[in-house]
Amino acid sequence: RNPDPRLPLKLLIAAPRGFCAGVDRAIEIVERALQKYGAPVYVRHEIVHNRYVVDSLKERGAIFVEELDEVPDDAPVVFSAHGVPKSVPAEAQRRNLLYVDATCPLVSKVHRQAERQIEKGQHILFIGHAGHPEVIGTMGQVPEGMITLVETVEDVANLPFTQDDDLSFLTQTTLSVDDTREMVEALQARYPQIVAPKAEDICYATSNRQAAVKSIAPSCDLVLVIGAPNSSNSLRLVEVAQRLGTDARLIQRASEIDPSWLEGVGTLGLTAGASAPEKLVREVVDRLSDWRVVEETPVVTTEENMVFKLPRQLTE
Ligand code: F3S
Repeated sequence: RNPDPRLPLKLLIAAPRGFCAGVDRAIEIVERALQKYGAPVYVRHEIVHNRYVVDSLKERGAIFVEELDEVPDDAPVVFSAHGVPKSVPAEAQRRNLLYVDATCPLVSKVHRQAERQIEKGQHILFIGHAGHPEVIGTMGQVPEGMITLVETVEDVANLPFTQDDDLSFLTQTTLSVDDTREMVEALQARYPQIVAPKAEDICYATSNRQAAVKSIAPSCDLVLVIGAPNSSNSLRLVEVAQRLGTDARLIQRASEIDPSWLEGVGTLGLTAGASAPEKLVREVVDRLSDWRVVEETPVVTTEENMVFKLPRQLTE
């Protein structure tokens, strides 16, 4: 009898990982809209940044578009979890479209704070990544010119405001916890008068997934993060591991893993961004088992039990 030629691989699987409550809710909104209104249901922007999720909803009759003008007058449309500028529901109302808003409640919370800060006469400095749909959505909650995007500590140094200006700040929900702390410190150093948001804007799912990676990365030779290249929170997970000195790679599917990555790897870390389904985690474990004898160890840093209510129009 030949001994198993596969080398052992210790696999540390981070928890929490994968779907957050906002992603769960957004996907369920599209599924329920399909049940209630029948196909096709249009979705403005990828409902969540994951190709597998988008493709499986497409198979069931969802049609993904980037802008509202691609939606016919008589079809329902869902807005993605990332949120939309105010102009989007306004245009949907003008056209009398049937729309369902799948914006994550934690993103909506930031939107409402932005409105309140403007009402108080403050100019908002918004910490986020240019071009991300959440950033476009949040900046689109207030009139143009009343919110300024700051992406880096250098941006803070170049801001035109003075210590006499009424300023406040807000952040994107899926940022690096550590980078954001630095940015906030830079803002407070330059503008001691700046008003902070009532509660941290980085969401529980983002900070829990980063903390979970921090707890496994130092013991790993390589960390794999399942997520899409346009998923902000997934990219941050790769950075968190790399900053601890551990090799880390973002993959969308198991098929992207090159067996040569595993050379010399005794302990592998695995996690998934907030928009990546658990199914893809199992797929990766199965693929790894083709090459190595995998010994799986879950590493749980926090238990999550967040659930968000669905919009009433889909539960009645
Ligand atoms: Fe919401 Fe955070 Fe998920 S903002 S969609 S709970 S990553």
